[in-house]
Amino acid sequence: MDNNKRPDDMVRITTNELAEAFIEEQVKEIQAQVGDKKVLLALSGGVDSSVVAALLIKAIGKQLVCVHVNHGLLRKGEPEQVVEVFRNQMDANLIYVDAIDRFLDKLEGVEEPEQKRKIIGAEFIRVFEEEARKLEGIEFLAQGTIYPDILESDGVKAHHNVGGLPEDLQFELVEPLKLLFKDEVRVVGKALGLPDGMVYRQPFPGPGLGVRCLGAITRDRLEAVRESDAILREEFAKNGLEGKVWQYFTVIPDFKSVGVKDGKRSFEWPVILRAVNTKDAMTATVEDVPFSLLQHITDRITKEVPGVNRVCFDLTPKPTGTIEWE
Ligand code: XMP
Repeated sequence: MDNNKRPDDMVRITTNELAEAFIEEQVKEIQAQVGDKKVLLALSGGVDSSVVAALLIKAIGKQLVCVHVNHGLLRKGEPEQVVEVFRNQMDANLIYVDAIDRFLDKLEGVEEPEQKRKIIGAEFIRVFEEEARKLEGIEFLAQGTIYPDILESDGVKAHHNVGGLPEDLQFELVEPLKLLFKDEVRVVGKALGLPDGMVYRQPFPGPGLGVRCLGAITRDRLEAVRESDAILREEFAKNGLEGKVWQYFTVIPDFKSVGVKDGKRSFEWPVILRAVNTKDAMTATVEDVPFSLLQHITDRITKEVPGVNRVCFDLTPKPTGTIEWE
């Protein structure tokens, strides 16, 4: 039997009951596979890795070692939430790595989007490798591979793929979600007690805010994109758009424009708002965000985010625009 093929008669996990049954079965399978050995997991805080972490904590507790790499390109509050949920609430074995300076130094002056992605991906593997080498007795690597990853690629996660580890650092894989679709992963995550903010979060690219801070990343613009994104998310949540709009975020270009603030000329950055709906991310339509809400968000961003004097709304569907700007 092909272990990477979802059986035709596999029931779709749509209810808490079905999720409980899945969890029970997976806990047994994981315990049988792993025994008393240790398992390593790169825990980004995204839906898939968070659900894998919660499942493994249930199955093997402290035999799971989670590594959370903060590359400085995460959204506001994300690293804190990972520590709070997994270390404080679930009592997980969690290693938090502050790699912010390392990533930002490597990215300094790099303008080309694909080059930025390569640097972020390669540096991620390097940081993870260093942490793995410090640990002893690890025999397994858990990954949040889900069924679409298997269908769409060669079975490895494009974003937090740690499959690029060197030859002498190869582990047996533990991939308990590999036959599940995203909606099923969310139902399982909910049944495992993860907070809604983690279970129902919108997709977030592996290179994170790095591809939303256009051109060469600077720390001041990175903070501006992080703060404006937090305002957009807060306002979407308050106005019932969270969970309704597929993906929404802000982008900051690497040019300034003239404006006026507090009666004085200002020369500052614009922020671009993007809110789109899609089924498969291959095409996308623009969400019809109420104009008054756009005005309110504009008002908040220009008042609260240092260095920003203008806000634009991206009206472009995909095609011709991609969802991200880089
Ligand atoms: P585009 O911009 O190509 O995005 O229309 C389609 C979907 O893919 C996400 N995306 C990425 N995800 N690593 C990822 O893990 C990346 O480098 C990357 N680039 C784009 C994007 O957020 C959208 O959901």
